[in-house]
Amino acid sequence: MVDKTAPTVEESSAERRAQINIRLATAADLKTLEWDGEYTHYRRLFRRAIDEAERGRRVLLLAEIGDQVVGQIFVQLMTRATFSTQRASSGYLYAFRVKPPYRNRGVGSHLLHAAEDNLESQGFRRAVISVAKSNLAAKRLYERAGYVVFTVDPGEWSYLDHEGQLREVLEPAFVMEKWL
Ligand SMILES: CC(C)(COP(=O)(O)OP(=O)(O)OC[C@H]1O[C@@H](n2cnc3c(N)ncnc32)[C@H](O)[C@@H]1OP(=O)(O)O)[C@@H](O)C(=O)NCCC(=O)NCCS
Repeated sequence: MVDKTAPTVEESSAERRAQINIRLATAADLKTLEWDGEYTHYRRLFRRAIDEAERGRRVLLLAEIGDQVVGQIFVQLMTRATFSTQRASSGYLYAFRVKPPYRNRGVGSHLLHAAEDNLESQGFRRAVISVAKSNLAAKRLYERAGYVVFTVDPGEWSYLDHEGQLREVLEPAFVMEKWL
């Protein structure tokens, strides 16, 4: 079957941007967030994120092309300073990803700007994002968008997967910020 939403080479950047629709995720998207099994292990985290979004503490944005969800970015809203000595209301951006066939066509940048716009419209002045030290392509994207490294984080955390098993993560990261 032909995927009519798959990228084609002859589209211009403007045409591509026009095709991308950004919307808020809801409980109806829980299954979609698992990306056909790749992220099933985060099921409990997704439920919690949706729950928090319903309480106004997170913003979960999805990028769609046609009726396909092709990317996402989550924002945790923090009213106290994090990773900083300066007091500021910050949004912590995380779970940022675009499905491989849709990368390098502006979907990620669009999501990033949408998250920043959402934060600004709610009066938040600062966006923060962690990026694995090995993820140089993502770091470059953030730098181009105006983010600067202000600290490093050992990236040590754990979570319960969908089967209740404890999973431990160790991913040393640069922590970057942008004043909005
Ligand atoms: C990081 C990620 C979300 C970026 O998403 P994306 O949709 O590819 O992002 P963009 O298309 O906006 O930008 C990526 C590159 O494409 C280029 N680009 C942007 N629009 C483009 C377009 N219309 N045509 C061609 N290239 C384009 C950008 O200049 C950028 O180039 P760079 O690699 O030299 O920095 C994506 O690569 C991803 O999901 N990676 C795996 C998960 C991950 O690492 N997440 C980040 C965790 S911190």
